[in-house]
Formats: sequence, C-alpha cells, structure tokens
Amino acid sequence: MPTLNQSYVSKGSWRSDLFKGKVVFVTGGAGTICKVQTEALVLLGANAAIVGRNKEKTDAAAKDIASLRPDAKVISLPNIDVRDVNSLVTAVNKTVEELGRIDFVIAGAAGNFLSDFNHLSSNAFKSVVAIDLLGSFNTIKACFEQLRKNKGAIIFVSATLHYYGVPFQIHVGAAKAGVDALSNALAVELGPLGIRSNCLAPGPIDNTEGLQRLAKGTKDQMAANIPLQRLGTTEDIADATVYLFSPAASYVTGDVLVVDGGSWHVGNLGNRDYPVNIIKALDAPGSKL
Ligand code: HXC
Repeated sequence: MPTLNQSYVSKGSWRSDLFKGKVVFVTGGAGTICKVQTEALVLLGANAAIVGRNKEKTDAAAKDIASLRPDAKVISLPNIDVRDVNSLVTAVNKTVEELGRIDFVIAGAAGNFLSDFNHLSSNAFKSVVAIDLLGSFNTIKACFEQLRKNKGAIIFVSATLHYYGVPFQIHVGAAKAGVDALSNALAVELGPLGIRSNCLAPGPIDNTEGLQRLAKGTKDQMAANIPLQRLGTTEDIADATVYLFSPAASYVTGDVLVVDGGSWHVGNLGNRDYPVNIIKALDAPGSKL
C-alpha cells in the first residue's frame, strides 16, 4: 500500500501538475522515507525510477507508487548496489531509455545498524560508509550528464546524528557528515551549471524501520522530548521534498533542510535512555546490540 493518497494533492498545498514531465531517479527507493518522497512527486505529476538491491522490494514499491496516478510511469530497477558505479550507469541508461530523462535525483540508499564502538568491526564501518557516502557520490556521478542537460536538482537523504555524539551510530554519523560535505561542495561546483544540491535530514519519523530500531518501544517518551511534542510523519518528509524540488526553492542550494520537530537541539534524537544503554553495552563484552 502506498503511504500517501489523493488527499495529499487535494489538501491544496501544492499544484497538482507541479512536476508534470519530470523524472526522478531514487536510490533506496523501496525504503519508507524515499518511497514517500517519490509518492509525493508522482502524485504531483512526475515519473520515477526506483533503484535498489532487492527485486521483491523495488517491484512492490514501484507498483504501489504507480497506483497513485493513472498515467504514472514508475519503473523498478533491482539488483543495483550503489557501491558499484557501473551498475548505477546501467540503471541510469535504462531510466533514460524508458522514461526519457532524469531531472531529479534522490540519493537515499543507506545502511544502518546499532553497534557500540567496541563491537564495530573495521569492515562494518567500511560497509556503511561505502553505501551511504561512496554510494551517494556514485549516484551523482552516474546521473551527472542528465542533471547537466536538464538543469536538475539533487536531494541527499542525510541525518542529524552527526551534529552531536550519538552512541552506537559512529559509522552512520561519520558517513552522513561526509554526505553533507559532498552536497555542499557539489552545490558550489555544479551551481554554475544550474544544478542544485541539498540535503534533507529527517528526525524521528513514525512508522519507519529506523525509528522502530532506535525507539525500541519508547515512542511516547521520545515524542515528549521533542520540542514540537510529536514524532514526524511521512507527510512532513513529503512536503520538504516537494519544496526542495519545486521552483519555490530555486535559490536554495548547499543547504540542509532538517525535518525533526526541533529534536536535535535537545540531543539524542529525543531518547534519553542512551546513557543507560551505553552502560549495558559496556557490561556485555562480546555481545552485539
Ligand atoms: C555489528 C554488523 C551488524 C550489526 C552487519 N555488521 N550487521 N556489525 N552489528 N548489527 C557487520 C558484519 O558483521 C560485517 O563485518 C559488516 O558489517 C558487513 O556486513 P555484510 O552483511 O557482509 O555487508 P553488506 O551485505 O554490505 O550489508 C551492509 C549492512 C546492510 C549495512 C549491514 O545489511 C544494511 O544496510 N542493513 C540495513 C539496511 C537499513 O536498515 N537501511 C535503512 C537505513 S535508515 P565483519 O567484520 O563481520 O566482516 C538510516 C537512517 C539513519 O540510515 C539515521 C538514523 C537516525
């Protein structure tokens, strides 16, 4: 089932044909965040290519998203690992062949698991950095000619956990800090070509796998610790995405749009159990969280 529906259009925040004729290329497109981002763009007229590793997941996401608009073209591009730039080039060629062009790129493929430093192997760190950071670079590398031709725009899906120290997320924090740096430098280099590059940093968004893992049954407590007193919704992410790709953001590049209800300013993603969890981790040498 798609997350959004026609009510997203009829609420009237955005023109229903805002992205007519545009094509978005999405890595990690089967994950909750990237899927809802794509749903919003497709509801507002875009066509889309859903890129990922797992065929079952990309096929299901593409089918769900396509169901949102009768004339939508949404293709599934499975068996693509963003760590391999050649497989991304193949995906880009297929997209241009089937959908004609690429205007927008969402670089959202990411790896994540909780691990304390003591149990985080060098290879585990490398895997996450390779997926999140090298994978983001590879994605733009593969899409560059299309972005240049169409004066396109990029959204990197980042995070806030590198703004301060988040335990058990050393690997992800390091990778996402790199993603922000990549986006900033691309904004400067590619700005003269008419290409915009921004990051979207979601905070605790309800109904995502990431939140289930982080919250571990403490959702109410998390919400109470968030300045806006609630978890984020997928619609919050959809609106931020539409804004960044819309003409309303035509002078916005090299920025990070944080959608987190103010969470990161209070630290620990609203979860004040971390110190307790750290002590437990240190007390359990040899175990993996
Ligand atoms: C410790 C772990 C681990 C775990 C894997 N590893 N899972 N170490 N705790 N839970 C280690 C392995 O032991 C291995 O190291 C190394 O990582 C590589 O594992 P592989 O399975 O061989 O690698 P690969 O197939 O490349 O998979 C990488 C992966 C992937 C990152 C582990 O399975 C993955 O991405 N899973 C989750 C996907 C996901 O949840 N995506 C949503 C992200 S949400 P050794 O030393 O044994 O060889 C997100 C939000 C961020 O990113 C912001 C949050 C606030």
